[in-house]
Amino acid sequence: MRTQDGQLFFTPPNQADAYKELRGIHGEIHDIAGEYWNWPSVATLTRPSLARILNLNFLYDEMLPVAGSICEFGVHYGSSLATLLNLRAIKEPYNYSRHIFGFDTFSGFAGVDEKDGGLVKSGDFHIDEGYEKLLERLLLAQESLSPNNHLKKFSLIKGDASVTSKQWLEDNPHSIISMAIFDMDVYKPTKDVLEAIKPRLSKGSIVVFDELNCPHFPGETQALFEVFDMNTIEVKRSPFLPYTSYFRL
Ligand SMILES: C[S@@+](CC[C@H](N)C(=O)[O-])C[C@H]1O[C@@H](n2cnc3c(N)ncnc32)[C@H](O)[C@@H]1O
Repeated sequence: MRTQDGQLFFTPPNQADAYKELRGIHGEIHDIAGEYWNWPSVATLTRPSLARILNLNFLYDEMLPVAGSICEFGVHYGSSLATLLNLRAIKEPYNYSRHIFGFDTFSGFAGVDEKDGGLVKSGDFHIDEGYEKLLERLLLAQESLSPNNHLKKFSLIKGDASVTSKQWLEDNPHSIISMAIFDMDVYKPTKDVLEAIKPRLSKGSIVVFDELNCPHFPGETQALFEVFDMNTIEVKRSPFLPYTSYFRL
């Protein structure tokens, strides 16, 4: 699935050296920048990572006037969650109703289905045991740099989203969803969660998929087919990433 540099397999092989060079320089700059440790990270940020930020910025603007919370299904290291927290601080600093929920097993894929096409296996995207504690600290620190930092406005929900999404609905009877981001890549949890949260989406909410129309992860698209009538929704693509697509109810 990945090269040694951690890039997805569709990274051109002739760019591997450049990624390696940037990775080394990133460490070198961090060691010499002292109190400016964070500023140069913009210089070593790669084009694909910048595209992910621009993508989330675009989606956030699409969602901005809609009431409700943001739910991301598939968090991994939390780069999107942290970006969303900061976008919220920039774009609607006093909207403390915009809670951000992140769902993940934090142990990779809970299982795969034959509809997932065979490129992925159970446990892919596994990260270090207990990573969610580090991520909680990271997000708390990010949020504490924002207005209204005395209010905690994010939650991490650990476990198989097929199960935890249903529990979340019970625990949060007030919650409606302004933007649901599906980035679990695989069929079953995507379908289960789509079905579960559908009644909490309002007309105007946006539903985002990170791997729609993607031959490597066919399950995500099939889950959408099975829950929504494709002839009644207008699926648009993000201008920044090839497979990120969304529709507005
Ligand atoms: C591609 S990564 C998410 C990347 C993340 N959205 C980002 O932008 O950095 C996919 C994540 O989905 C999670 N995942 C897969 N199946 C899951 C399930 N059944 N329940 C919860 N999380 C799941 C994996 O653990 C993995 O962390």
